[in-house]
Amino acid sequence: MMSLLCITVISLTLAGRAVSETTSPYSILRVKAELGGNITLPCSLLPDSSIFGSFKVKWIKVGADETLNEDVLMSMGLHKRTYGSFEGRIFLQELDNHDASLVINDVSMEDMGKYRCEIMDGVEDVIQDVILEVENGLSGGVVFPYSPPIGRYNLNFDDAVQACADQGAEVASFEQLFAAWKSGLDWCNAGWLSDGTVQYPITKPREPCGGSNNKPGLRSYGRRNKQMNRFDVFCYVPDLKGHFYWLVQPERLTFDEAVQACINDNAEIATVSQMFAAWKLEAYDRCDAGWLADGSIRYPISRPRKNCSPTEAAVRFIGFPNKNVKSYGVYCFKAEQQE
Ligand SMILES: *[C@@H]1O[C@H](CO)[C@@H](O)[C@H](O)[C@H]1NC(C)=O
Repeated sequence: MMSLLCITVISLTLAGRAVSETTSPYSILRVKAELGGNITLPCSLLPDSSIFGSFKVKWIKVGADETLNEDVLMSMGLHKRTYGSFEGRIFLQELDNHDASLVINDVSMEDMGKYRCEIMDGVEDVIQDVILEVENGLSGGVVFPYSPPIGRYNLNFDDAVQACADQGAEVASFEQLFAAWKSGLDWCNAGWLSDGTVQYPITKPREPCGGSNNKPGLRSYGRRNKQMNRFDVFCYVPDLKGHFYWLVQPERLTFDEAVQACINDNAEIATVSQMFAAWKLEAYDRCDAGWLADGSIRYPISRPRKNCSPTEAAVRFIGFPNKNVKSYGVYCFKAEQQE
């Protein structure tokens, strides 16, 4: 009920204004903030544009679709308005009369995501997208658990190294898993770490996961036999070098069709690590189940809501279905072009 109400209000404030994506994925700016620090999201009129009176500036936070966009700041001359959790800690930088950059104080993990600046000066509007990433003590990366299509606890150490490599990732270190646990990772299956130990991170102690009487922490099985013992694995990916997206298209697809659909869009089918990186580093949120390169079906939720992931932000795992079922869409990835 709450979330329904909330969505209605947001879509009303944006009614009648379709914001078109005029910027290509490659011209999106990226800025990185420290948790609790201050950051400036750049946006300005072109230096040679003449200004007749004051211009109108609108900053929004871009949702997975337009109904989930959030207003951040509106400005018209001296009249300014800020919204929601941004009130009291954002302002326009206004270094000169072309500057519409947004300053955010006391950056939180929830601030992560894509922002859009629109300057309307009555002549030529400017639209600038800026992705804000927030450092979480993992050097900007993300740790994620992985188990293979044949099921949980099937990887010896070499298989684990290969499983992460197949996702464009590497086996996480103890320090990386520890940092991920501190920033909220809770996972009840044990996985290999790069030092050859097997551990799992628990933030909400409970019975089947090492006992409800134990404190939150990393539960360790210690060093295991790298050939004989089989577990899951924790992988680490340092960043997302490109554009992760849900491919908008009319049909439900088989796995092979999904692979081809991304190629037809000049991209490739996304990996599990790209989905985790987009979810964690850009707060990517989409309540549609889609194919990934390993043949799994998942979807990333950063704003928990009914029917998607009601209680927590998470990458939801549906399974490894028969590759011929035509029940899902697809997530694609376009690598950043080297200049
Ligand atoms: C952020 O900006 C505020 C207000 O200008 C200042 O008081 C604070 O010290 C700054 N914080 C950091 C981490 O620089």
